[in-house]
Amino acid sequence: MNQDAMKKAAAEAALEYVESGMIVGIGTGSTANHFIDLLAGIKGKLDGTVASSITSEERLKSHGIPVMDLNSVGQLSLYVDGADESTKFLHLIKGGGGALTREKIVAGASDKFVCIADDSKLVDVLGKFPLPIEVIPMAQSLIARQIVALGGNPVLREGFVTDNGNIILDVHGLKIMNPVEMEEQINQWPGVVTVGIFAHRPADILILAGESGVQTYT
Ligand code: 5RP
Repeated sequence: MNQDAMKKAAAEAALEYVESGMIVGIGTGSTANHFIDLLAGIKGKLDGTVASSITSEERLKSHGIPVMDLNSVGQLSLYVDGADESTKFLHLIKGGGGALTREKIVAGASDKFVCIADDSKLVDVLGKFPLPIEVIPMAQSLIARQIVALGGNPVLREGFVTDNGNIILDVHGLKIMNPVEMEEQINQWPGVVTVGIFAHRPADILILAGESGVQTYT
Protein backbone atom coordinates (compact mmCIF):
# COMPACT_ATOMS: atom_id res chain seq x y z
CA MET A 1 0.00 0.00 0.00
CA ASN A 2 1.43 3.42 -0.87
CA GLN A 3 1.29 6.41 1.46
CA ASP A 4 -1.72 7.93 -0.27
CA ALA A 5 -3.67 4.65 0.03
CA MET A 6 -2.82 4.63 3.74
CA LYS A 7 -4.14 8.19 4.10
CA LYS A 8 -7.36 7.10 2.41
CA ALA A 9 -7.65 4.05 4.68
CA ALA A 10 -7.33 6.28 7.76
CA ALA A 11 -9.96 8.64 6.34
CA GLU A 12 -12.33 5.72 5.71
CA ALA A 13 -11.95 4.57 9.31
CA ALA A 14 -12.92 8.05 10.54
CA LEU A 15 -16.29 7.85 8.78
CA GLU A 16 -17.57 5.65 11.59
CA TYR A 17 -17.45 8.66 13.95
CA VAL A 18 -19.90 10.61 11.77
CA GLU A 19 -23.44 10.41 13.13
CA SER A 20 -26.75 11.57 11.65
CA GLY A 21 -27.51 15.25 12.10
CA MET A 22 -23.94 16.23 12.93
CA ILE A 23 -22.16 19.38 11.82
CA VAL A 24 -18.61 18.14 11.28
CA GLY A 25 -15.43 20.21 11.46
CA ILE A 26 -13.16 19.51 8.50
CA GLY A 27 -9.39 19.79 8.38
CA THR A 28 -6.99 20.62 5.57
CA GLY A 29 -4.47 18.60 3.57
CA SER A 30 -4.30 15.47 1.45
CA THR A 31 -5.62 13.16 4.19
CA ALA A 32 -8.48 15.54 4.98
CA ASN A 33 -9.19 15.68 1.24
CA HIS A 34 -9.75 11.92 1.23
CA PHE A 35 -12.13 12.37 4.15
CA ILE A 36 -14.02 15.10 2.27
CA ASP A 37 -14.34 12.91 -0.82
CA LEU A 38 -15.62 9.98 1.26
CA LEU A 39 -17.99 12.23 3.18
CA ALA A 40 -19.64 13.10 -0.13
CA GLY A 41 -21.00 9.52 -0.19
CA ILE A 42 -22.91 10.08 3.08
CA LYS A 43 -23.63 13.80 2.79
CA GLY A 44 -27.38 13.28 3.31
CA LYS A 45 -26.56 12.21 6.88
CA LEU A 46 -24.95 15.56 7.75
CA ASP A 47 -26.51 18.85 8.81
CA GLY A 48 -23.39 20.54 7.46
CA THR A 49 -19.69 21.16 7.94
CA VAL A 50 -17.30 23.86 9.14
CA ALA A 51 -14.11 24.16 7.08
CA SER A 52 -10.63 24.97 8.42
CA SER A 53 -9.45 26.57 5.16
CA ILE A 54 -10.65 28.13 1.95
CA THR A 55 -9.24 25.13 0.06
CA SER A 56 -11.27 22.63 2.09
CA GLU A 57 -14.36 24.85 1.86
CA GLU A 58 -14.09 24.83 -1.94
CA ARG A 59 -13.65 21.05 -2.06
CA LEU A 60 -16.65 20.49 0.24
CA LYS A 61 -18.80 22.80 -1.89
CA SER A 62 -17.69 21.04 -5.09
CA HIS A 63 -19.30 17.90 -3.64
CA GLY A 64 -22.47 19.77 -2.73
CA ILE A 65 -21.72 19.46 0.99
CA PRO A 66 -23.03 22.49 2.94
CA VAL A 67 -20.36 24.62 4.64
CA MET A 68 -21.35 26.79 7.61
CA ASP A 69 -19.82 29.66 9.54
CA LEU A 70 -18.47 28.52 12.91
CA ASN A 71 -20.07 31.55 14.59
CA SER A 72 -23.52 30.43 13.54
CA VAL A 73 -23.28 26.82 14.71
CA GLY A 74 -21.69 26.89 18.19
CA GLN A 75 -19.93 23.82 19.57
CA LEU A 76 -19.23 20.97 17.13
CA SER A 77 -19.40 17.29 18.06
CA LEU A 78 -16.62 16.15 15.76
CA TYR A 79 -13.50 17.48 14.04
CA VAL A 80 -11.54 15.32 11.57
CA ASP A 81 -8.11 16.40 10.36
CA GLY A 82 -4.64 15.12 9.47
CA ALA A 83 -1.30 15.95 11.07
CA ASP A 84 2.36 16.28 10.19
CA GLU A 85 3.53 14.45 13.32
CA SER A 86 1.90 12.80 16.31
CA THR A 87 3.22 11.24 19.50
CA LYS A 88 1.45 8.37 21.22
CA PHE A 89 0.15 10.99 23.67
CA LEU A 90 -1.70 12.49 20.67
CA HIS A 91 0.29 15.73 20.81
CA LEU A 92 0.61 16.96 17.23
CA ILE A 93 2.54 19.17 14.87
CA LYS A 94 0.18 20.68 12.29
CA GLY A 95 0.39 23.42 9.71
CA GLY A 96 2.27 21.77 6.86
CA GLY A 97 -0.56 23.06 4.68
CA GLY A 98 -0.49 26.46 6.41
CA ALA A 99 -4.01 26.21 7.84
CA LEU A 100 -2.93 25.80 11.48
CA THR A 101 -4.78 28.80 12.91
CA ARG A 102 -8.21 27.91 11.59
CA GLU A 103 -7.49 24.24 12.34
CA LYS A 104 -6.75 25.11 15.96
CA ILE A 105 -9.91 27.19 16.18
CA VAL A 106 -12.15 24.44 14.80
CA ALA A 107 -10.41 21.78 16.93
CA GLY A 108 -10.94 24.01 19.98
CA ALA A 109 -14.65 24.29 19.19
CA SER A 110 -15.11 20.52 18.88
CA ASP A 111 -15.99 17.90 21.48
CA LYS A 112 -14.04 15.16 19.69
CA PHE A 113 -10.94 15.58 17.52
CA VAL A 114 -10.22 12.54 15.35
CA CYS A 115 -6.77 12.77 13.76
CA ILE A 116 -6.17 10.69 10.63
CA ALA A 117 -2.76 9.89 9.15
CA ASP A 118 -0.48 7.29 7.67
CA ASP A 119 1.77 5.66 10.24
CA SER A 120 4.92 7.50 9.09
CA LYS A 121 3.57 10.44 11.12
CA LEU A 122 4.01 8.68 14.48
CA VAL A 123 7.12 9.90 16.31
CA ASP A 124 8.62 9.59 19.79
CA VAL A 125 9.50 13.29 19.99
CA LEU A 126 7.93 16.12 17.97
CA GLY A 127 10.19 18.35 15.91
CA LYS A 128 11.73 16.42 13.03
CA PHE A 129 9.01 17.96 10.85
CA PRO A 130 9.73 21.72 10.75
CA LEU A 131 7.38 23.43 13.19
CA PRO A 132 5.09 25.93 11.39
CA ILE A 133 4.36 29.24 13.12
CA GLU A 134 1.88 31.73 11.66
CA VAL A 135 3.26 35.24 12.23
CA ILE A 136 2.00 38.79 11.62
CA PRO A 137 4.29 40.02 8.80
CA MET A 138 5.78 43.01 10.73
CA ALA A 139 6.98 40.64 13.49
CA GLN A 140 8.92 38.32 11.16
CA SER A 141 12.44 39.29 12.31
CA LEU A 142 11.49 39.66 15.97
CA ILE A 143 10.02 36.16 16.05
CA ALA A 144 12.91 34.76 14.01
CA ARG A 145 15.38 36.07 16.63
CA GLN A 146 13.35 34.54 19.46
CA ILE A 147 13.28 31.19 17.66
CA VAL A 148 17.06 31.26 17.22
CA ALA A 149 17.43 31.98 20.97
CA LEU A 150 15.31 28.89 21.57
CA GLY A 151 17.69 26.79 19.45
CA GLY A 152 15.61 26.62 16.26
CA ASN A 153 16.35 27.63 12.70
CA PRO A 154 13.45 29.65 11.23
CA VAL A 155 12.84 29.52 7.48
CA LEU A 156 10.29 31.79 5.81
CA ARG A 157 7.79 29.83 3.72
CA GLU A 158 8.48 31.65 0.46
CA GLY A 159 5.54 32.93 -1.58
CA PHE A 160 2.97 31.70 0.93
CA VAL A 161 0.26 33.81 2.56
CA THR A 162 -2.19 32.22 4.99
CA ASP A 163 -5.96 32.51 4.67
CA ASN A 164 -5.62 35.18 7.38
CA GLY A 165 -3.09 37.28 5.40
CA ASN A 166 -0.03 36.29 7.45
CA ILE A 167 3.32 34.56 6.86
CA ILE A 168 4.59 31.16 8.02
CA LEU A 169 7.98 30.53 9.60
CA ASP A 170 8.95 26.84 9.47
CA VAL A 171 11.27 26.06 12.35
CA HIS A 172 13.90 23.39 11.81
CA GLY A 173 16.04 21.70 14.41
CA LEU A 174 13.76 21.73 17.46
CA LYS A 175 13.36 18.73 19.74
CA ILE A 176 10.02 19.37 21.41
CA MET A 177 10.37 17.47 24.67
CA ASN A 178 7.60 19.41 26.48
CA PRO A 179 4.94 20.22 23.87
CA VAL A 180 2.47 21.84 26.29
CA GLU A 181 5.10 24.22 27.68
CA MET A 182 6.56 25.08 24.30
CA GLU A 183 3.11 25.74 22.84
CA GLU A 184 2.41 28.15 25.71
CA GLN A 185 5.80 29.85 25.46
CA ILE A 186 5.72 30.52 21.71
CA ASN A 187 2.05 31.47 21.67
CA GLN A 188 2.67 34.36 24.02
CA TRP A 189 5.29 36.09 21.86
CA PRO A 190 3.75 39.25 20.41
CA GLY A 191 3.37 38.76 16.67
CA VAL A 192 2.72 35.03 16.83
CA VAL A 193 -0.77 34.20 15.64
CA THR A 194 -0.55 30.46 16.18
CA VAL A 195 2.16 27.88 16.74
CA GLY A 196 1.59 24.50 15.09
CA ILE A 197 1.96 22.49 18.31
CA PHE A 198 -1.41 20.99 19.22
CA ALA A 199 -0.82 19.87 22.80
CA HIS A 200 -3.17 21.98 24.94
CA ARG A 201 -5.95 20.63 22.78
CA PRO A 202 -4.47 17.35 21.50
CA ALA A 203 -6.33 14.85 19.35
CA ASP A 204 -8.76 12.62 21.23
CA ILE A 205 -8.47 9.74 18.80
CA LEU A 206 -5.58 9.00 16.43
CA ILE A 207 -6.25 6.71 13.48
CA LEU A 208 -3.04 5.54 11.83
CA ALA A 209 -3.01 3.42 8.69
CA GLY A 210 0.00 1.30 7.76
CA GLU A 211 0.96 -1.84 5.86
CA SER A 212 -0.63 -4.06 8.48
CA GLY A 213 -3.96 -2.18 8.60
CA VAL A 214 -5.52 0.58 10.66
CA GLN A 215 -4.72 1.18 14.32
CA THR A 216 -6.61 3.47 16.67
CA TYR A 217 -4.99 5.22 19.64
CA THR A 218 -6.88 7.09 22.35
C1 5RP B 1 -2.51 21.50 7.22
C2 5RP B 1 -2.20 20.40 8.15
C3 5RP B 1 -2.30 19.01 7.63
O1 5RP B 1 -3.18 18.29 8.45
C4 5RP B 1 -0.95 18.38 7.67
O2 5RP B 1 -0.03 19.17 6.94
C5 5RP B 1 -0.97 16.96 7.08
O3 5RP B 1 -1.17 17.02 5.72
P1 5RP B 1 -1.36 15.75 4.83
O4 5RP B 1 -2.67 15.12 5.21
O5 5RP B 1 -1.35 16.29 3.42
O6 5RP B 1 -0.20 14.81 5.08
O7 5RP B 1 -1.89 20.60 9.30
O8 5RP B 1 -2.28 22.75 7.78
